[in-house]
Formats: sequence, C-alpha cells, structure tokens
Amino acid sequence: MVLSGKRILLIISGGIAAYKSLDLIRRLRERGASVRPVMTSGAQQFVTPLAVGALAADHVFTDLFSRQDEQDVGHIRLARDCDLVLVAPATADLMAKMANGLADDLASTVLLATDRPVLLAPAMNPHMWSNAATKRNVATLQGDGVHFIGPMAGEMAESREAGVGRMAEPLDIAAAAERLLDTSPKPLAGRKAIVTSGPTHEPIDPVRYIANRSSGRQGHAIASALARLGADVTLVSGPVTIADPAGVKTIHVERAEEMRDAVLTALPADIAVMVAAVADWRVASASDQKIKKHPGESIPTLALTENPDILKTIGHHTLRPKLVVGFAAETQDVDSNAKAKLERKGADMIVANDVSPTTGIMGGVRNRVKIVTRDGIDQWPDMAKEDVATKLAEMIAERLRRG
Ligand code: CTP
Repeated sequence: MVLSGKRILLIISGGIAAYKSLDLIRRLRERGASVRPVMTSGAQQFVTPLAVGALAADHVFTDLFSRQDEQDVGHIRLARDCDLVLVAPATADLMAKMANGLADDLASTVLLATDRPVLLAPAMNPHMWSNAATKRNVATLQGDGVHFIGPMAGEMAESREAGVGRMAEPLDIAAAAERLLDTSPKPLAGRKAIVTSGPTHEPIDPVRYIANRSSGRQGHAIASALARLGADVTLVSGPVTIADPAGVKTIHVERAEEMRDAVLTALPADIAVMVAAVADWRVASASDQKIKKHPGESIPTLALTENPDILKTIGHHTLRPKLVVGFAAETQDVDSNAKAKLERKGADMIVANDVSPTTGIMGGVRNRVKIVTRDGIDQWPDMAKEDVATKLAEMIAERLRRG
C-alpha cells in the first residue's frame, strides 16, 4: 500500500462538499495513511470538528492563535510534519489566498509555510470555477507546482445547477494522493499501452443483446497495473459494472465494431493487451424496432455475421505495437489452442485460461493462467486477478527493457 505510514495533513475549507471529506478521511486511513485535520472556520459551518476528529482519530486544528495548539504542535510543525498537504474541498477563496500568498488563518498560514507537496480538490459553483479570477489563480498555483484533482462535471449539491465544479470523489482523491506519494520504480514511463476489457454487447433490437459472462476485472486490473508502472494507458471497456481504474483514460463502448474503432484511434502504442471477451458474432441486421411476439406465427431466428477480430487486426497492423498480448479463453485443449492463437493473431504472448464453468474464472475474482510465448509455456499458480495483472505488467516491462 502506497499510503502505508504516510502522514497526510488534510485541510478542509468551507464548502458543502466538506461532507465528502468525512468519507475521504476513511478512505485515506483504510489505505494506511494517518490523517491530521485542519479546518477553516467556514468548514466548521458544514461539518463539525467532533465528526472530523473522530474519523481521523486525531486532534482537529482550527485556530492560528490557539495557545494550546501552538504549544502542542505549532503551525510550522503542522506544515512540515507530513508527507502531503491535501486540501479537500478547496474553495475559490482559499485558492485565491494561496495564489497571492495570504496567511490570515491557520489553513492559509500552513499552506504558505509548507515545503511538502500540495494537492487541491477544488469544489465550488460552476460560475465561480469559470470566473476569470479563479482561472488566473489556478494557473498561478499550477505554475507554483501545486497539484489538482478535479473538479468534475455534474450536478451541484446545493442547487440543481450543473457544470464543472463538483469535488472529485473521495476514492479518486485518495488515488491522486497515492500517485503523488508513489516512489516505486516506473519502468514503463514514456510507454503507451492500449488495453481492452469486459464483454461486448451485440444488439438484437433496441432492448435485447448478445453478451457473455466477462466482468472486466482482469482487463481493468491489467490497465491499473500498467499505469502503476508508469505507462500512459488507454482502456477500451465494454459494458461492465466495475469502476473505471484510477490514473487510466477509459473509453466506454458497447459493440465489437466500436471497440475496434476506439482501439485503432488510440494507436500508435508500445503495448497492446487485448483482454476483452469480444463477441465473435453479431446479429447480421439488428432491428431498429423491438421485435414483437406474434402468437401462432413462426419463432424468429437470428442470422449472425462475423465481428472484426481486434487482436488479429492489431497483430498485423502497420502501426503494430512492439508488444502485442492476447488472451485465450478456452474450455478444452488449452495449450494447443493458445499456441495456434499466437500465430493466427500475430501476438507475442497469449495468456491462456481455462474458463470451464467449474473453474469459476469467468466473472470471478481469481485466475489461473498459462503464459504462452514462442519460447514455451509457463504455468502460473492460482492468484487474485490483481496479482496476475501485476506480474504480467512486470513481465511486459521486462520484455520491453530487453528490447
Ligand atoms: N479477440 C478480439 N476480437 C475478437 C475476438 C477475440 O480482439 N473479435 C481477442 C480477445 O480479446 C483475446 C483473443 O482475441 O485476446 C482470443 O479470444 P478468444 O475468444 O479466446 O479467441 P477467438 O479468436 O474468439 O477464438 P475461439 O472463440 O475460436 O476460441
């Protein structure tokens, strides 16, 4: 865990999004960080120091001129005895103070005094975010090396107004903090990767489709693992119920043809990992209208036509990535089928798994794979899909390093 043992000074300023800071504290702590809270007087209008302190399991610092606080810790130590200063929510007012070096309360004084990385999660009304003064302040802060996460587009909590201004979700803020504090090696820095994941949905009519049991867990985990090693990752995902991985550009598609188009648009790349369970066939002529049932009449039959083979297209493309990895979902003759796929699809590596229903792999959380290359077959033990992803990403990095 990247945040394990890290000390985060969390400054909460006064906006309605402060209610999300309570959840943020939990997310940071469950990742192993300790959280020391500072609240502005505005923040205390929205959430109580009691709630913040209870969740953080620490004293809440609120007052620059508190004799007690200054004796115990002091604002300079508060600013320095941490690995990251995180401001969530960051109001327009606090950002304006920061951009101009003002220090008239504890939060702004700490921000002026700190020599630690600073991450802001702005939250404000869309008009305030797009105001020229705020834009100037954001540009100044970015120039000063301050990091930002969000704000996001969406509906505001206090009004039914929509626009850019919502605070990023606590999980995304925690992920941004992790990225900032991550000092692990980045062997894939400067490399671009394309990953496909999930099933495809092939429409029969506007309400029905052909699908499969893929959950997207393995593909999403691989996209995350490549990003953790520093790759610039585009994930093309079919319809899944799991969240977009943090630190990855995710493109959502439904059909195989859309997935192919998104993959080709993302070229050139150094790495392609095609994990999606792409439907081999689609309905030849999907109906524009819902197909109705007419009692007594014949039951409709579905005429299918072949879908584009995305892996094969990439494996034989003029812009073929240096390393092309495919998956092979098999229920029989795993080795020979995977070897044949290596050649047919123009891949460098096939990750083969037995997806017979008894294995519980398709849609499950664990995987037992064989790595098939032209050098041979390597059986990996049963592992969590995240661990398969990490090991595969390391293997990819190593192969690219060797050239
Ligand atoms: N694949 C793809 N496009 C398709 C079908 C498959 O990109 N239209 C990719 C998958 O993402 C996977 C690999 O090809 O990386 C193998 O998928 P699999 O379904 O096992 O193989 P198929 O080519 O469909 O062969 P078969 O169904 O006969 O086993």
